Amino acid sequence: MNKPTRFLLIALLVLALSCQSEPTLHLESPNGVNTLHFRLTEKGEPTYSVSHGDELIINDSKMSFDFKGQESMKQGFTFVGFEERPIDETWGMPWGEQREVINHANEAVARLQEKQDPKRRVNIYFRSYDDGVAFRYEFPEQGGVDSLTIMDENTEFQLTGDHTTWWIPGDWDIYEHLYNTSKVSEIDAISKRDHPNLASTKIPENAVNTPVTMRMESGTHLSFHEANLTDYSGMTLKVDPENLTLTSELVGSDRMGYKVKRALPFKTPWRTIQIADKASELIESNLIVNLNDPNKLGDVSWFEPQKYIGIWWEMHVGTSTWDYAGSQDMGTWTNDGRPHGNHGATTENTKRYIDFAAKNNIKGILVEGWNTGWERWIGFEDREGVFDFITPYPDYDLKEVVRYGKEKGVDIIMHHETSAAPRTYEQQMDTAYALMKDLGIHSVKTGYVGKIIPKGEYHHGQWMVNHYRKVLEKAATYQIAINAHEPIKATGIRRTYPNAIAREGLRGQEFNAWSIEGGNPPEHLPIVAFTRMLAGPIDFTPGVFEISLPLKPESQVNTTIAQQLALYVVIYSPIQMACDFPENYEDQPAFQFIRDVGVDWEQTKVLNGEVGDFVTIAREERETGNWFVGGITDENAREIDLSFDFLPEGASYNAVIYKDGSDAHYRDNPTDISIEELEITHSSTLSINLAEGGGFAISLMKSD
Ligand code: NOJ
Ligand code: CA
Repeated sequence: MNKPTRFLLIALLVLALSCQSEPTLHLESPNGVNTLHFRLTEKGEPTYSVSHGDELIINDSKMSFDFKGQESMKQGFTFVGFEERPIDETWGMPWGEQREVINHANEAVARLQEKQDPKRRVNIYFRSYDDGVAFRYEFPEQGGVDSLTIMDENTEFQLTGDHTTWWIPGDWDIYEHLYNTSKVSEIDAISKRDHPNLASTKIPENAVNTPVTMRMESGTHLSFHEANLTDYSGMTLKVDPENLTLTSELVGSDRMGYKVKRALPFKTPWRTIQIADKASELIESNLIVNLNDPNKLGDVSWFEPQKYIGIWWEMHVGTSTWDYAGSQDMGTWTNDGRPHGNHGATTENTKRYIDFAAKNNIKGILVEGWNTGWERWIGFEDREGVFDFITPYPDYDLKEVVRYGKEKGVDIIMHHETSAAPRTYEQQMDTAYALMKDLGIHSVKTGYVGKIIPKGEYHHGQWMVNHYRKVLEKAATYQIAINAHEPIKATGIRRTYPNAIAREGLRGQEFNAWSIEGGNPPEHLPIVAFTRMLAGPIDFTPGVFEISLPLKPESQVNTTIAQQLALYVVIYSPIQMACDFPENYEDQPAFQFIRDVGVDWEQTKVLNGEVGDFVTIAREERETGNWFVGGITDENAREIDLSFDFLPEGASYNAVIYKDGSDAHYRDNPTDISIEELEITHSSTLSINLAEGGGFAISLMKSD
């Protein structure tokens, strides 16, 4: 049956049934593999379920809302209409994991109204894709109400088994927890909430953050998340371990006393379930970006995907500081105005980094600690007005480093640590971005360390969701791209605002410098690739070469040097840092991979992978046709068999293979690396040994 006919039949079935009792909508994906079923129960409760082939993925699940000053909306509904439409379009990513994205789905809207007064109305939009399903609520204009105050949204996801789950605790302020692996019935997020180095968190329930990924007994993989988080609160998922149910739990605001307030009409973010037969397909899914609106900014070619270095790792490992004078010791501050001589962001140091970048095919340099205010950064309640984003410290000549960078072909990446005082930042955005525009600077790393001021707001609540959006919109008017740390989660907004280039929103490399609990464990990134990375680009900041951290004898990064190289391919971002000191890259043959590796991709193929164990990804660079492959493993050594049949037939490539040396081990021998050159074609195969905590990287340069 051709696809439009099948879709029409679904619609007809619905209409026929509607004459007798409340109908059931069955919305199939274009190839028929996923179906969303929707009906009203006898009590008129909106209820959906999801199947994947013959397998039930989500059992009958209810959808309801609690409001301020009104009855909850959960039952007594009747259908007042249906509409459906096929979606089939191809859109281009200005930068990304692939040049073109196919957005192919079937969409239906069910229009519902309460039978009794006040006869409130809600519309539910459903989409079935071949890589998952999604739905969102619309509160249309209706008599008697002009806005809604939501106390909570209760969207259920009734699981059909006790799936293996990779999760981080629900948190209203930060996503930087370590991942846990457990059955749904064993999720205990409350006991996982404290961490000495995280801004204090708030988890009112046994809830997890999204994306949360699961593997069913059958091998089917699911990932729950949201798309197009706009003017709404972030969603955590409350876990009922006994009944194997997840229920949406929105991030709140103690200041406001509600979770979301919106004028009518409005639509909520999409609630999404990615569905895949194998783990690797989750990474290839475009569901999240496809559920967002098309590009609103038009041409963003002023932003160039790039590798960058930074005056950054030195502060994290402690050889220099962000602040210039006095001393700042977590909450106590003395400043006699005299420089202490250990400031990282000096003109001279920046020029040294620029020289290094210019020699090594690196186009950007991030300079943190360049502006006044760092003496009062961490631990202060009173953080409004501390940073001003235009005043450099006396030893940093901003104009001169910009000039010097331009001469050498290296862009300065601006840094704005807001210290979680968004009102101060909003007051200064115009001035700060105008300065950047004057200087020809097109990207900024923002930061939101600490508890949000005003008190009672949280990083992931509606008020901050709107702040992060304001920043994107304002920055776009100055042709500025944003890399946010301590951000709101990625929900595919980069499709609409392609100046949202990357963000943190996970436990990044920095934790390895502080080495809390021995740093990130080797399984961290093989989990991240199938969880956080499904949401969007990650500023993880790979590239540690001095793995044993000589300045911190008790600490070490849990990686091998070959794995650090692999991350440039595996962990996607259009900006990729080479985070280590320039001197640690000097005379290192492995650094050639970082010089060569691309940052903007024509296409991406996930060659293999299992969540938490390993993953191998191949990406073709735009314009050059060169390919790069990266593979990483957890704490287990393993052999990976590679077939290069993703390469075009008839072409030949000069390949350089960077792999763990035969004695490599993430703890005992992390820098043992073997580098080999080969000629590779479409029909080549290769077997590569990855050490415990290791990886490999391959550059494939077209030779004809
Ligand atoms: C936390 C960010 O994640 C880190 O990259 C940055 O160096 C500090 N904040 C200072 O802004
Ligand atoms: Ca951080």
